[in-house]
This record gives sequence, C-alpha cells and structure tokens, in this order.
Amino acid sequence: MVTKATLKAVDGVSFDLARGEVLGLVGESGCGKSTTARLTLGQLPPSAGEVIFEGKTVPSSRTQQWRNLRRHMQMIYQDPLGALDRRLPIIEQIAEPYTIHGIGGSRAERREKAQALMLQVGLRPDQASSYPHELSGGQRQRVVIARALALEPRLLVCDEPVSALDVSIQAQVLNLLDDLRRKTGFSALFISHDLKVVRQMADRVAVMYLGRIVEEGPPEDVFHAPLHPYTQALVSAAPSIHGNRGRNRIVLSGDPPNPVNVPGGCPFHPRCPVAVVRCRTDVPSLSREGDRAVSCHLAGSAGGGGFSPAPHPKSKALEAV
Ligand SMILES: Nc1ncnc2c1ncn2[C@@H]1O[C@H](COP(=O)(O)OP(=O)(O)OP(=O)(O)O)[C@@H](O)[C@H]1O
Ligand SMILES: [Mg+2]
Repeated sequence: MVTKATLKAVDGVSFDLARGEVLGLVGESGCGKSTTARLTLGQLPPSAGEVIFEGKTVPSSRTQQWRNLRRHMQMIYQDPLGALDRRLPIIEQIAEPYTIHGIGGSRAERREKAQALMLQVGLRPDQASSYPHELSGGQRQRVVIARALALEPRLLVCDEPVSALDVSIQAQVLNLLDDLRRKTGFSALFISHDLKVVRQMADRVAVMYLGRIVEEGPPEDVFHAPLHPYTQALVSAAPSIHGNRGRNRIVLSGDPPNPVNVPGGCPFHPRCPVAVVRCRTDVPSLSREGDRAVSCHLAGSAGGGGFSPAPHPKSKALEAV
C-alpha cells in the first residue's frame, strides 16, 4: 500500500500589512515564501484560514469578484522574460491592463498612458516598439513594473524581483521601486533571500522557517539583534549586513528541512544550536512584545534580552497543504 504524504508548504502563517507599508519576507529556499505570495494574492486557496484585503476576504480565483480585486493587487516575479509576451512590443504589454479592464479611453489614449508609465520607470520613448528580447534584464523588469503599476494597485507582491539582475542593476531597480512606492503609496510584500535588499526596502521583516514565521520586527532590530536562533544563523551568514561585524558565522547542523516530514515540537530543534528538551516536544507560538515577535521557547534567554512571550492578538493563521 502506498501512503500519500502531506506537504504543508506554509502552516499557521499570520501577518498584517498596513497601507503603504512594505513587509519583507526572508528565509531559505523552500521555506514557503512564494506559497505565501500566492496565498496572499488568492492564486492559491488556503486549506485553512483566510486572507483579508481592505476588510474583505479575498475570494477564490477565477471568479469575477477575484478578477475585479486583482487589479488592486499586482505581482512582480523574479524572471521578467517569463512574465512578458515575447511576440508583443513592450508598449502593447504595458497598455494591456487598460484593455483588459476596459479603462483608459481609446487605443491612442491607452498608448499615451503607457508611454507616460515608460518614462516613469526610466524607459526611453524610442523603446516603445521593442520586443522583450531586445531589452536588458533590468529594462525588462522595468517593463514588468510599469505594467504592474498601470492600474495603480494598492498591493504589490514582489517575489525576488531583483535576484536575476546584476548587482549594479539591482540597485537601480530597487531605487525605482522605492521611489514609486513613495509617490503612489502602494503596500508591498517583498520577498527576497538577500537580507541587504530587504533591509533597504522593508519597514518590517518576517523570517520564515519551514512554512512558519519564526521572527518579525523592524529590519534594523531583527538584523542587528536577532532573537530566534534561526535568524541568528541567517544573519551570521550575511557578512555585510548591519551589526554583523565581528559576529561568528553559525553553521547549522542537522539535515536540511523537509516539509513532508516536519519535526515535532519546535520545527527548528534538530538544527538548533541551543535547543533544550522542551523544544523537542512543545511547539512554540509566535509571541509578541512591542514591535518584535519571535517563536522560540528560549527567546528570553537566547539573546532576546528580556523578551517575554505574549499571545498573538490576531491569529487567523493561513495554511496551504
Ligand atoms: N505546486 C506545488 N506542489 C508541490 N509542492 C510544492 C508546490 N509549490 C511549492 N511546493 C513545495 O512547498 C514548499 C515551499 O515552496 P515555495 O515555492 O513557497 O518556497 P520558497 O520559499 O519560495 O523557495 P525559493 O526561495 O526557492 O523560491 C517547498 O518544499 C516546495 O517544494
Ligand atoms: Mg520562491
């Protein structure tokens, strides 16, 4: 007999995003960042829990209600070429959201709006009739950003938006996103494995491990004085992050995490350098104090500086199986 294994890609994830705020999401590959993005946008139905956008539950995808909502929630992926149509000039692709949603007047008016967007994201007018393969990676990502902003979304979900770009181009695209956020006021869920990028972009950061948020707080505080042993290891492996000078690299022991076989107790305990007996049996909850939150039995003693766990006030947690 074959027993079907269950993989919980995210489990009990709960976060709020205020208007105009940028929440950074970090964690190692496979920890559930993209799944969280898809859940947030309603592209993936949660098996438990709900996503609330501006006071209303995000409906299941493929409904008209969801399509109406989607214009306010846009996504930017890592690979701009994959997000664009190779056979269409970029101006057509930037104007496409107006056509789809039947706004922006005549074709000429929609083109005019698209041209204004091109300028806003730093593309030249003479590039309007270019095809995606004729542009550089950074320029392609600018096209994707222009198209995402066409309908003035209130939420932008960015999943590793600069990971495929050269470092010098990364900085330009990040500055552009930051500028546009200040001008247009969208909120953003900003996913990156690069702590430096998250520190630059986010007002708040959430650290994920094996499908759960294990720590949350202002980036400066989280990266300067991480409370969770996993965040401490993550920060110690990022040599240039603020506050890391002189910090010894923490190399995690144990097997890489397997979401099909999540360890009992604290999911991090098999790799945790400071785990005690209780960590093998009791699942820690995400406890808040002020603007910090951590999910660790030892947070008060393991560098937490007096952090005293308190229950999360809003816990309608998401799960995706
Ligand atoms: N469609 C799917 N079917 C089965 N498993 C999936 C599916 N999508 C994601 N997973 C699994 O869920 C877990 C979380 O995946 P997810 O893509 O959310 O990770 P991630 O944090 O975005 O990783 P990365 O940094 O590599 O992009 C992984 O173990 C992945 O293998
Ligand atoms: Mg991903």
